[in-house]
Amino acid sequence: MREAEDVRAILRDRGPRPSGPRRFPPGFIWGAGTSAYQVEGAIDEDGRGVSIWDTLCARPGAIANGDTGAVAADQYHRYREDAALMAELRLATYRFSIAWPRIQPDGRGPVNERGLDHYRRVVDALLERGIAPNVTLYHWDLPQALEDAGGWSSRETALRFADYAATVYRALHDRVGWWATLNEPWCSAFLGYATGEHAPGVRDPRRAVAAIHHLNLAHGLAIRAMRPIDAGPRLGIVLNPAPIRTKDGTPPATETLRDGIRIVDGIRNRVWLDPLLEGRYPADIAADVAALGGFPIADGDLATIAAPIDWLGVNYYHDDTLGDLPPGTSAAAGAAIHPGTAGIAWDPPDGPRTDQGWIITPDGLRALLVSIGRDHPGAPPLIVSENGAAYDDPIGPDGRIRDERRTAYLAAHLDSVHRAIEEGADVRGYIAWSLLDNFEWAWGYAMRFGIVHVDYATQRRTPRDSALWLRDVIAANALP
Ligand code: FCB
Repeated sequence: MREAEDVRAILRDRGPRPSGPRRFPPGFIWGAGTSAYQVEGAIDEDGRGVSIWDTLCARPGAIANGDTGAVAADQYHRYREDAALMAELRLATYRFSIAWPRIQPDGRGPVNERGLDHYRRVVDALLERGIAPNVTLYHWDLPQALEDAGGWSSRETALRFADYAATVYRALHDRVGWWATLNEPWCSAFLGYATGEHAPGVRDPRRAVAAIHHLNLAHGLAIRAMRPIDAGPRLGIVLNPAPIRTKDGTPPATETLRDGIRIVDGIRNRVWLDPLLEGRYPADIAADVAALGGFPIADGDLATIAAPIDWLGVNYYHDDTLGDLPPGTSAAAGAAIHPGTAGIAWDPPDGPRTDQGWIITPDGLRALLVSIGRDHPGAPPLIVSENGAAYDDPIGPDGRIRDERRTAYLAAHLDSVHRAIEEGADVRGYIAWSLLDNFEWAWGYAMRFGIVHVDYATQRRTPRDSALWLRDVIAANALP
């Protein structure tokens, strides 16, 4: 297929690679991921409370096609079948998230044991198949009651999160070896409270700025609550840092663009990595957001946020490329959420795109993995915790789904991981996004990210060719 060839061309442009297999280090962890709201369905079962995504889905126009997570991939009922499928694909780990509203329907107070029991069963089903669970405690489905009390703009939510995290940890620490507190807090803060594309669908940059700090604090408080219960499991967080650059990688030619890239990089990357790994906010960004109320830091917060972690999850899809707007024009709306960026805008390079219109920039993953260790010498080992692409290829008459573009995308990014390791990055694993087609947030079911296809009418699962390819890569622990 033409576009798969385009993706492979990107790979070739990066220079020759060894002719033999590119082996990954012994013990390299291979897996696939999902998140609760995206795959579980069963939103009214076993005492689950309402989440902010249920609320946003009910808002007309918020989600493509009016889709909701009510049924999704029905994993709430099909986790055993899915665990068997993972074993067939030779996955060593499954990254999934726990729905806070199933554990505490209102986000605080009494624990709903039926919710915990569900995840006990999921974990047992995985362990029976020899698959190591990697649990994310928060993948965006905040209990609505907490949002009504201020959500992530309120410090109280961080305290409630630490209680919830400790509750789940107490129940599962003996069987789950890998934990992440938050998934992509940049999305929670920025898409949730600034652009409003994600739940709770708010457009108020002041609230987004406060949310940045409260999400960081929630992470640190949770680590501090969990560690004393059991110091054995590996505790971490999943971020989505990305290289922010011009489309051809040349230095920005104007002061406006240079400053804009600094600010976007600051909000996407540095306001998460710096407090987590260095115990401080970047001074330039703290000054930039002062006009939006600033970061509401209390005594001791920065030390809490910098509590040591055992691994850092890196989700990566593409670089963000920026350029100057023509003189006389301005992105006022963009500047409201990124103060100081009115003169610049997204400026994508030519080349193939995924179904979502996302650009394909595999070398960015290499650069990112190398730079985290270089810029933060104390950084823990890294795991690529999400990486993948939306492509909807048809099921052939023979039942096969020849998703060559997805395979090419995965191969190009795995090559980047391999290169990063050769360059000294401490990368311990790779978790493909996603195991299954699922509810892709504001895009609804229109975007298919699964290495396994889901027929939503029957819930039948069909591994795409990319899944079979990944299975062979895992078996060899090497790229062919
Ligand atoms: C990430 C999310 C994940 C999925 C992918 C495509 O930002 O963590 O849930 O939607 O993007």
